[in-house]
Amino acid sequence: MDHAAETILVTGSGGQLGRYLVAACRERGFRVIGLGANPGPGVDIQVDIGDAQAVTASIADVRPDVVIHGAAYTDVDGCERDPDKADRVNHLGAANVARAARSVGAHLIAVGTDFVFSGKRAEPYSERATPDPVSVYGSSKLAGERAVLDTDPSFAVARTAWVYGGAGKHFPRTVLTMIRDRGAMTVVDDEVSNPTFAGDLADSLVALVDKRPAGIFHLTNEGWVNRFGLARAVVEAAGGDPGVIQPTSTEAFLSRYPLPAKRPANSSLANNRARELGVTLPAWRDAVDRYVPTLARELNGQE
Ligand SMILES: NC(=O)c1ccc[n+]([C@@H]2O[C@H](COP(=O)([O-])OP(=O)(O)OC[C@H]3O[C@@H](n4cnc5c(N)ncnc54)[C@H](OP(=O)(O)O)[C@@H]3O)[C@@H](O)[C@H]2O)c1
Repeated sequence: MDHAAETILVTGSGGQLGRYLVAACRERGFRVIGLGANPGPGVDIQVDIGDAQAVTASIADVRPDVVIHGAAYTDVDGCERDPDKADRVNHLGAANVARAARSVGAHLIAVGTDFVFSGKRAEPYSERATPDPVSVYGSSKLAGERAVLDTDPSFAVARTAWVYGGAGKHFPRTVLTMIRDRGAMTVVDDEVSNPTFAGDLADSLVALVDKRPAGIFHLTNEGWVNRFGLARAVVEAAGGDPGVIQPTSTEAFLSRYPLPAKRPANSSLANNRARELGVTLPAWRDAVDRYVPTLARELNGQE
């Protein structure tokens, strides 16, 4: 399909997912404008999404056909400490972007999170499952997705989980850095979800654009694993011995390193609706095996 005439505005374009999104949109032939809070790679316009007037003005100026809203206050413990900021960015920010998109007739896909669920179930959550967040981050993101769909039911929310990839802080980077510096690591084995490579997520979001999806979608690499299993897979993919990763429980971990925000135990998502539209992501293990060797070379100073 020729996308040259279509413009996508990506919010959070300087973030982990945003950088892959900008690249994926360009690769598919779209014109892309990146919106971010701070200057940096991928950021064409600097706007605080909490500022309704600034968001309206910038989206009216760009007149995008589609907005992919990835910007969020993603520090889960930071949100717990500063609920006002969480609400301003994750709830009101999403509402501002949705209203501005609607006013120019743009379609909107907002990125959501598995943390809207408590994780108390044994089965993966479908798109129809009732959200029951256990953290300020989860509640503020839930308020944001509701604001998006209340603004226009033809808009979409694409929830994802355990995203990693690129230059910033993420779990595989933490694991390999810890193993390089300390030789071993203890990781919880009772927290489960779908590790999702930001590059695969970006490709699937751009694939969804052509379908003009409406409502809630789940979009993760296929399959689920606990954090201990993920850490072992990361070490193995980097050519190391997975035996350096030791299991522990969340309770034991938190008694040594307390954190303000609760995390869901099993927040894995089932990607039913995207699959129905023909949009699927590779298995999580395949994604780790593709991405981690590059990360390992980078950490060893070979790239
Ligand atoms: N990371 C995960 O494991 C995960 C899991 C599930 C869902 N998600 C969702 O996926 C999306 C992308 O997450 P990510 O991992 O790429 O996070 P990220 O790296 O923290 O990126 C978020 C981006 O949002 C921008 N932002 C924050 N506050 C803003 C504001 N007030 N105005 C404008 N931009 C603002 C940030 O800009 P600055 O960096 O300049 O502040 C950053 O570039 C988010 O919606 C997140 O909720 C993430």
